[in-house]
Amino acid sequence: MKQILVALLLGLLLFSSGCIQPKEAPVVAEKAATEVWKADGIVGASEYSRSMLLQSPTRHGYSGGDMEVSWKNDQEYLYLALNGSTEGWLAIGFEPLEWMKNADIILASVNGSKATVRDEYCTGNYGPHVDDTLLGGTNDILEFGGSKGAGRTVIELKRKLDTGDRSDKAFSPGQAISIIWALSDNPDISLKHNVAYGEGIMTLS
Ligand code: HEM
Repeated sequence: MKQILVALLLGLLLFSSGCIQPKEAPVVAEKAATEVWKADGIVGASEYSRSMLLQSPTRHGYSGGDMEVSWKNDQEYLYLALNGSTEGWLAIGFEPLEWMKNADIILASVNGSKATVRDEYCTGNYGPHVDDTLLGGTNDILEFGGSKGAGRTVIELKRKLDTGDRSDKAFSPGQAISIIWALSDNPDISLKHNVAYGEGIMTLS
């Protein structure tokens, strides 16, 4: 009886510590994207056709946080918004092989009203991730903008589904894209994520 009670207590402690989290896929909200897309750092109510809230608990080395990802696409372009609970850097990575390796990364921050959005690629399990241009590729973020305030950073950007750059993953309409994401409370991109990290699936229309 005593052993059962101890096991129950340990289970409860692990659960409340965030080490065991219920693994439920985030709900993807869908609507008609009737608003004109603008990279102004404001996610309009009808600017994107799909959105989901990714969350990550407080755990060792991480304060915990969330990032709302909103997106829409046509036959040629992907339009993306990231709204993360940080005033440091935020990032999304497409189709890693495992951990962070071979992820096509977009890493962004906002300083005042100026957004910086990097088109990067991660070559190792836990970095390094470098600008595509340093790997012989090109910067394929066609338009971008952002805003920051009250503990959140918003980035909006546009890229081609298939950029033709081998440091970018090529997408096609209807595709389910595996993603990773991460947030840091520091805008210095050489510093590791310390707010949140996680994974998800983003399905194109
Ligand atoms: C500043 C550069 C970065 C460094 C030095 C770094 C380093 C690391 C390290 C050491 C881990 C192992 C877990 C831990 O120690 O907490 C990790 C895990 C992870 N990182 Fe990064 N990272 C960086 C940037 C990024 C970016 C930009 C993303 C998202 C696009 C990202 C996404 C992830 C994810 C999702 C994991 C968990 C992988 C897993 O366990 O499945 N990281 N990173």
